[in-house]
Amino acid sequence: MLSWDDTPAQPAAKPAAPQAPAQPQYSFEAAPAAADYNTASVQAPSTGRISAVDKRIINGGTDVNQLVPFKYKWAWEKYLATCANHWMPQEINMQRDIELWKNPNGLSEDERRLVKRNLGFFVTADSLAANNIVLGTYRHITAPECRQFLLRQAFEEAIHTHAYQYIVESLGLDEAEIFNAYHEIKSIRDKDDFLIPFIDALTNPNFKTGTPAADQQLLKSLIVFACIMEGMFFYVGFVQILALGRQNKMTGAAEQYQYILRDESMHCNFGIDLINTIKMENPHLWTEAFKAELTGLFQKAVDLEYAYAEDTMPRGVLGLNASMFKDYLRFICNRRMQQIGLEPMFPGATNPFPWMSEMIDLKKEKNFFETRVIEYQSGGALSWD
Ligand SMILES: [Fe+2]
Ligand SMILES: [Fe+2]
Repeated sequence: MLSWDDTPAQPAAKPAAPQAPAQPQYSFEAAPAAADYNTASVQAPSTGRISAVDKRIINGGTDVNQLVPFKYKWAWEKYLATCANHWMPQEINMQRDIELWKNPNGLSEDERRLVKRNLGFFVTADSLAANNIVLGTYRHITAPECRQFLLRQAFEEAIHTHAYQYIVESLGLDEAEIFNAYHEIKSIRDKDDFLIPFIDALTNPNFKTGTPAADQQLLKSLIVFACIMEGMFFYVGFVQILALGRQNKMTGAAEQYQYILRDESMHCNFGIDLINTIKMENPHLWTEAFKAELTGLFQKAVDLEYAYAEDTMPRGVLGLNASMFKDYLRFICNRRMQQIGLEPMFPGATNPFPWMSEMIDLKKEKNFFETRVIEYQSGGALSWD
């Protein structure tokens, strides 16, 4: 087993870095200049033409500007699937939500608090997600099929921020209150304080992959982002708004969230495939110590998300209460851990919201909210769990 934490500057068993002329990063010179697009350059193949077998998710030496020949078909297929699910927030009618929100008897105080705290997390969460992709993850990934998906994902994060802003605007909420919630509301701030160091690690201009320690840092940030942020931190919020929709309240917002949930489910699954492929290509990264560290992060994430559930639902509301989320979060946490090959922490945890998995597949829920549901997906290509 490799040990590296104390020797970060010695990349063992790596090809030598190219004796690179100081070429500008925007150069379109012939190969091997293409390797300059990667933060962790290695020698480009001497033939100049790339072969799929030489491609790598991280620390690759093949030209990142050549999408084909494909090696990571799963990434390309997910890219096509997300494009087939394109939607825009303004297409959803918010009139009933506006009337309900303005009606003094339309919603209880607890329901209003829930909506505002919910939006308070989400209005900035997807900007964090977009920044993480664009300023961090993207430049460290050397497989163009995966970069293609990340570009689409970045746009979808922009659509999500747009959707949350559109709900805030439609309801006439205090924008400063909602957009500052991640500074001012402790349960939201705590979640973001947990996430931000993992985003900062990848966006730091001095961060480069290519050593075991750096590659583990990248892998850890990818796991925190896909499995914990998109895979756990979004889910209390999704359940809450979709539960409102199931009671025929805030149906426009619920429809927006349903589309977002479908997108996030795809982002999470792409991230899991990305993580597992990096593991497969770099098995030396997956040490016992690393797995133990990740397990600790999952435990912390369950605690933070549960605290958020308690804060947003201090009393029972909509037939939901915080303690129901204890089981739900343990159930989701088990699932995420299993998906990346970690031992689940909470054996026997069950899902108190089985209807959530139905929500991801819009075809089953067609016209559920009796609002205008647009079937963008024409084929039956999508199946998620
Ligand atoms: Fe998003
Ligand atoms: Fe996402």
